Amino acid sequence: MPETFTATAPAGDARILIVGAGLAGLFLALRLAPRKCTIISPAPLGQAASSAWAQGGLAAALDPKDSPEQHADDTVAAGAGLVNPAIARLIAEEGPARVRDLIALGVPFDRTPDGKLALSLEAAHSRPRVARVAGDLAGKAIMGALTAAVRASSHIELIEHAKAVGLLQDTNGQIAGAILKDRRGRISTFTSPETVLCTGGSGGLFRVTTNPPQARGDALALAYGAGAVIADPEFVQFHPTAMDVGLDPSPLATEALRGEGANLIGADGESFMTRYHPKAELAPRDEVARAIHTEIAAGRKVYLDTRDAIGDKIKDHFPTVFAACMAAGIDPRIAPIPVAPAMHYHMGGILADIWGRSILNGLSVCGECASTGAHGANRLASNSLLEAVVMAARIADRLCDSDIKPAKESAGDVPADLPDEALQTLREDMAAKCGVVRDATNLSSLIESIDRLEAEHGPARALVAARLIASNALAREESRGGHFRSDYQDTLQTATRTYARLHAPDLEPAK
Ligand code: SIN
Repeated sequence: MPETFTATAPAGDARILIVGAGLAGLFLALRLAPRKCTIISPAPLGQAASSAWAQGGLAAALDPKDSPEQHADDTVAAGAGLVNPAIARLIAEEGPARVRDLIALGVPFDRTPDGKLALSLEAAHSRPRVARVAGDLAGKAIMGALTAAVRASSHIELIEHAKAVGLLQDTNGQIAGAILKDRRGRISTFTSPETVLCTGGSGGLFRVTTNPPQARGDALALAYGAGAVIADPEFVQFHPTAMDVGLDPSPLATEALRGEGANLIGADGESFMTRYHPKAELAPRDEVARAIHTEIAAGRKVYLDTRDAIGDKIKDHFPTVFAACMAAGIDPRIAPIPVAPAMHYHMGGILADIWGRSILNGLSVCGECASTGAHGANRLASNSLLEAVVMAARIADRLCDSDIKPAKESAGDVPADLPDEALQTLREDMAAKCGVVRDATNLSSLIESIDRLEAEHGPARALVAARLIASNALAREESRGGHFRSDYQDTLQTATRTYARLHAPDLEPAK
């Protein structure tokens, strides 16, 4: 049975609580100055956040020949009918200013010899617009700069080695803070007039993923349990080229390699992507992932061949990929890299408006755990870091301008964690039955397996999040973007978002 905890907010409690310490959480904290805030980080700052692993960069209309309109159009086209065009436009318009903010914070984006930002091409972008750092080190460099700035900021308190395992809520449903667990398993309550969930994604629910193991959809489960709306949870994005080298998580071979001309080949050395899509290696991410999945399912291994297009330059231009290959015993200068699709990004999440508000008073959401409508059914490459900084700035602007009243008395439940063996069973099942290609038989069997695990271990957060993904994937009887059903291969004419809400399952939020 879940354990219940209660809390009473002290008088004058005004500190904003930021749960999660990836790009969204750190950028938000910095933008809140001078308003006091506390960041909860499950690990030492800068570690265990997907943002630090990002090899791509930030997509933004930074070139005078580009425009926010074109960027928004590409975002909408990639999203297979489910991107909210107003959000795409807002993010594209505010994006360039946020990239300049990062430059001011010391992020050394790559430059051309004449000092302009060097912008790369990635799949489904109509022009080069991805600002990167040292090739594939954007996440590390951005998180390094932000970590230093956060540590030097007196308005930010940092609690490391702790995570939120429950939300505090008053009798009117207002969120009043969180229940925290530290690394020794000690529980405490943290009251706050505004809690912002920035906990990242849910790739850790899948056996094959590029995400850190901590990214297990915790925020989804917490917010759902409190009555927030979860939008489009079935839409997860499989990165086509995770390295298939027996590691968990799988190291990523960035899209930019294909942007620079790297080829997908079979064991016979032949390219195969033109058989699947006219844009071949530069087709949208979901198309490339499905093509590779089809080849592998037919018993053919797939490799990313960087030798001709990038050659020896891979060592300096893509140092993360090069190091991961060498650690796995593959020298990409002389051999192709074995690849397979892996769960990479959650497009669905906690429904948020253009100011990052969930439908619950006192609860905002930002970054991968939020669903603003920016990514639809298929996220455009390198739009996620951009969305995180744009939305973090908007949340900060709103909170700095508002006088939020804290809830006084509050309480919340903490379900038991899922034991590791059960978690591994769940992860195997999610990857096998809710992967790149789905069908009703497999999804129903997955839901039965989640039922069995829940009967044994209770409503653990990982099970709640997995059930949201699986049951919405079963309910969506069509193929669209990252969600492909072999038993419903057509795309319905009308694109509809799906919503899940614990306390009012029939609720249909305005679109
Ligand atoms: C990549 O570098 O391929 C990943 C970028 C992204 O996920 O946007």
